Amino acid sequence: MTEEQNRVRASVLECMRRHASTVHVIALMDEDDGFLSTTATSVTLTTMDPPTMLVCLNGNTRVGAAINRIETFSINTLAADQVAVAAACAGGLDHGKRLAAADWRFDEDDIPYLASAQSSLRCKIVNIVGSGTHHVVFGEVVSARYQADVAPLMYLNRAYGHFFPSAAHELSNHVIGW
Ligand SMILES: Cc1cc2nc3c(=O)[nH]c(=O)nc-3n(C[C@H](O)[C@H](O)[C@H](O)COP(=O)(O)O)c2cc1C
Repeated sequence: MTEEQNRVRASVLECMRRHASTVHVIALMDEDDGFLSTTATSVTLTTMDPPTMLVCLNGNTRVGAAINRIETFSINTLAADQVAVAAACAGGLDHGKRLAAADWRFDEDDIPYLASAQSSLRCKIVNIVGSGTHHVVFGEVVSARYQADVAPLMYLNRAYGHFFPSAAHELSNHVIGW
């Protein structure tokens, strides 16, 4: 890698420290590996017709490898008090210990979801696109559950935290309806 490429990489990492993200855990059941879960912030809604989510997963991880073998996964948006779950599923705990470390449940089709999460989206994989080290996974949402309160765990500047609306938030309320 050239000096210029190294400089750009370092600057991109600095820029990413300034991107606030919601913290999710991707969970799935794999025939070979059983229950697998991993913390991910690269999650977004791509379209509402039909509702489709996108998640970027490192192909060199257990979840990233399993994603090519399975059909359905869940996106579990963590609550502000679930830092321990985020840390466990980001490598703090071995995969075999992650299931017992939080209130994971299984739906009628054996797809795992986190009962205490802010929300859980069950997604059927419709496309996977390679991008460098990562798989960009598109999942059509087939079912969704959520809690009454809105208090997700956030990640910004290499720290976990939560969201406080700006005092001027009423100025922007009408711009986006969701
Ligand atoms: C806040 C945070 C966000 C992350 N977001 C992603 C992500 O979007 N995609 C990804 O592949 N890994 C992401 N990771 C890394 C994985 O959670 C995890 O550390 C990595 O997959 C290690 O592999 P393991 O899950 O097999 O232990 C993130 C980690 C943290 C702490």
